[in-house]
Amino acid sequence: MQKKWWHEKTAYQIYPKSFYDSNGDGIGDLPGIIGKLDELKELGVDIIWLSPIYVSPLADEGYDIADYRNIDPRFGTMEDMKHLLDEAHARGMYILMDLVVNHCSDEHEWFRKACEDPDGQYGKYFYIETVKPGEKLPCNWRSYFGGPVWEKLPGHEDKYYLHVFHKKQPDLNWENPKLREEVYNMVNWWLDQGLDGFRLDAIINIKKALPFKDYPADRDDGLCSIHRQLEEAHGVGLFLGELRDRTFLPHNAFTVGEVFNEKPEELPDFIGDQGYFSSMYDFEETIFGQSPMGWHENVDITPDDYKACVFKTQKKIAEVGFISNIIENHDEPRGVCHYIPEGDLSLTSKKMLATVYFLLRGLPWIYQGQEIGMENLPVSDIGEVDDISSHDAYQVALDAGCTKEEALHLIEKYGRDNARTPYQWNGSAQAGFTTGTPWLRVNPNYHRINLEAQKQDPDSLYQYYRRLIALRKSAEYKDALVYGTLVPYNEEEHNLMAYERIGEQHRMLIIANFQKEARSVQLPAGEAVVVLTNAKEAQIRDGAIALAGYQAVVLEIK
Ligand code: GLC
Ligand code: CA
Repeated sequence: MQKKWWHEKTAYQIYPKSFYDSNGDGIGDLPGIIGKLDELKELGVDIIWLSPIYVSPLADEGYDIADYRNIDPRFGTMEDMKHLLDEAHARGMYILMDLVVNHCSDEHEWFRKACEDPDGQYGKYFYIETVKPGEKLPCNWRSYFGGPVWEKLPGHEDKYYLHVFHKKQPDLNWENPKLREEVYNMVNWWLDQGLDGFRLDAIINIKKALPFKDYPADRDDGLCSIHRQLEEAHGVGLFLGELRDRTFLPHNAFTVGEVFNEKPEELPDFIGDQGYFSSMYDFEETIFGQSPMGWHENVDITPDDYKACVFKTQKKIAEVGFISNIIENHDEPRGVCHYIPEGDLSLTSKKMLATVYFLLRGLPWIYQGQEIGMENLPVSDIGEVDDISSHDAYQVALDAGCTKEEALHLIEKYGRDNARTPYQWNGSAQAGFTTGTPWLRVNPNYHRINLEAQKQDPDSLYQYYRRLIALRKSAEYKDALVYGTLVPYNEEEHNLMAYERIGEQHRMLIIANFQKEARSVQLPAGEAVVVLTNAKEAQIRDGAIALAGYQAVVLEIK
């Protein structure tokens, strides 16, 4: 694997709507981000991905783009964006935008023109099919957000368009070279403005299994999971290779793909030295336990499951490329609530989870608020919920026989609002996020969990993240913690997650006691030096280390 400039960096995802509101309208914005760059720098962040800020009706919170070349006025202006790029670059930081090109918004000019003339140039930018009254739809795929993927084309009784996400997100037809050309021009235009790269949204969906056909229904609605056709949609690599060659490569852009379903043999194509993307996310643990039947059938992930998922990815990637490691993002519940067994959530267990995922081989990502240990949001009524996928999941759960309380509890566990509540800056009104009324309610725990308090507390999660970031980057240990190979340690031991990172000069052992009971673990031969721990001390005696519940230790083995 070739070394790349970004391997040693730390990446951070901002969800702009909920980061910092500079003008009191309740919506986070670009000036708000600019004003907080120094905070991020202080934490140790280098690369920042912004969830979408393009012009959008915000039906899917910006993942429905109505104009790719402009900033939504709620987030700011193009001048603000250029200002952000300049300010970030002046601090040695990099900015990525979200590239959402599987679909656009039904309010995009292309789609409006397609409605006016479905047989014209713009009609061919989408998947539009004629369905005469009484005829069946072209296929029975279920959209990611529920219901059929086909929706009547406005103004036409006998025409339907495809949307694999929400009906306000019509799919773009990548089979059409003209559409691809539009996309490449747009991507190059952004990179010419000085943007450093992209996170590629839902990118694997750009290839459909054609011609459209039904698959066996997997629920009573007569529809089948959208994943079914993805398995048969071959040839996405042709599009991805072209996209890379025409845009990212000539600009030397950094890219990270949102990919859920690659096959092991495809990994070199995706993130090898000449891959379609610089990196892609590891979602193995993210999707563990998810049921195609709905949230009510999801299974909790245990510490042993978590370990198995993480190591599966690490073994699969080995030296092929550099994966991106996360515990949460804007689509997932808060990582600390998801991966730490219920009842065991504490400052210590949060630090333990941070240690084990952050020092894996790959690029570590922090989602806003993760560094202060933000938690899931209590929900008492469906009316409080913003996220469109939660609304669908709620209905699915009720239809399956869940009570209202049970269905709401599922939203508390899995809903996307959990990650989208305003950032908790301090203990003042609205957590210091806005002087107005926030677009989504602030988590009521902000008096207990906020950045200002944690900056003053040397023992806080925030300060621990700073130490982790500095340790991974340190000139002394980066040969092992960034570039070293990863070898699981005592892999079969229940509720123990441990691995070695072996570099050219250093051998490090990361050891985490993923349970509340104390334990002792035998160390490898050699002198063991404690480099970092989340507890007061780490006692080593006769070649074994005594670990308190949820204790994590980073050791150098000499
Ligand atoms: C991705 C995004 C998600 C969005 C979807 C459709 O999965 O992360 O937020 O709803 O794509 O664009
Ligand atoms: Ca604002």
